[in-house]
Amino acid sequence: MGYPPSEWPEPIVPVQSLSNSGITEIPSKYIKPPIDRPSLDFFHNSETDLYIPVIDISPLINGSDRTDEAMHAISHACKEWGFFQVVNHGVAPDLVQKLRAAWREFFYSPMEAKKAYANYPKTYEGYGSRVGVDKEAILDWGDYFFLYLLPESTKNLNKWPELPPNLREITEEYGEKVMKLSKMLIKAISTSLGLDENYMLRAFGGDNIAGTLRVNYYPKCPQPELTLGLSPHSDPGLITVLLADEHVKGCQVKKGDLWVDIKPKTGAFIVNIADQIQVLTNAIYKSVEHRVLANAESERFSFAFFCNPKGDMAIGSAPELVSPLSKPLYEPITFNEYRLYVRNKGPLGKSQVESLKAA
Ligand code: OGA
Ligand code: NI
Repeated sequence: MGYPPSEWPEPIVPVQSLSNSGITEIPSKYIKPPIDRPSLDFFHNSETDLYIPVIDISPLINGSDRTDEAMHAISHACKEWGFFQVVNHGVAPDLVQKLRAAWREFFYSPMEAKKAYANYPKTYEGYGSRVGVDKEAILDWGDYFFLYLLPESTKNLNKWPELPPNLREITEEYGEKVMKLSKMLIKAISTSLGLDENYMLRAFGGDNIAGTLRVNYYPKCPQPELTLGLSPHSDPGLITVLLADEHVKGCQVKKGDLWVDIKPKTGAFIVNIADQIQVLTNAIYKSVEHRVLANAESERFSFAFFCNPKGDMAIGSAPELVSPLSKPLYEPITFNEYRLYVRNKGPLGKSQVESLKAA
């Protein structure tokens, strides 16, 4: 069998059709082993004050004299959490609302219209319901649409939904704005490590840094205590800028042994460090495991913008960040190779970046 295979190991059943069918018990393919279920370790941080930091990044945008404060907050958040919320980020609320509305309409369109965009393991582009090609895998309670946004040369508009009519235009505009924001954040992250502000952008491919979008749709689930909307994983690229659902929470971050709820502020983006920054910084900043709970009462939408390195450069630890006493922790590998590996296996906590560890 060639890798990746051209077909999924078994027919795809959209979670949305299962949910809409009115079943009261989920199929066994979705039932996690007891240790992976959310109920055993369910942690209610509503009773504590454990929250990911919220950072006002307007000083970075305006170049005001409060830049140091924002930089310090970013550096602290990257070390302590690998996750933070950004507010006053400059992406227009109107654009965000149009994006939400357009994709909601797509997911509410007839199943046949969506299936015209069915995705395959070669590129993942399109409408899908699983990650990973292992036939035995237990599946997650969610559907998604995955597409390549930037650079232009990776974009394949034929694979994007034609309806609703403004979806393509809105999604392209959103991609440009969020890429700009991502680059600004990567500059800040670079500076916070004592590197030149453009160091990371250069190391990850400059103008060829890529942007992809995963629109997640988590339909209502009759037995949320037995499954997950999205299994624990770290994101493979540089950083992820997540637009979470406005009303329904569900995303949790691992902090030590606890799973901590993210409570998105109105208008905020959730930013997280992904695996390639862990590699480049020799684990000074680490990617962090996160997961999504299923929910019996409410469906949920989210938009994950993945900022990724250029695909064909080998990425290893930056010599500037490897001290004479430490050694490079990771074997250099290209992002194209790494992504293939991650995609074939599906979500597996942090085992994937750990597997890059040098002997
Ligand atoms: C992802 C992800 C979180 C969410 O798509 O990689 O972690 O809240 N999504 O949907
Ligand atoms: Ni993720």
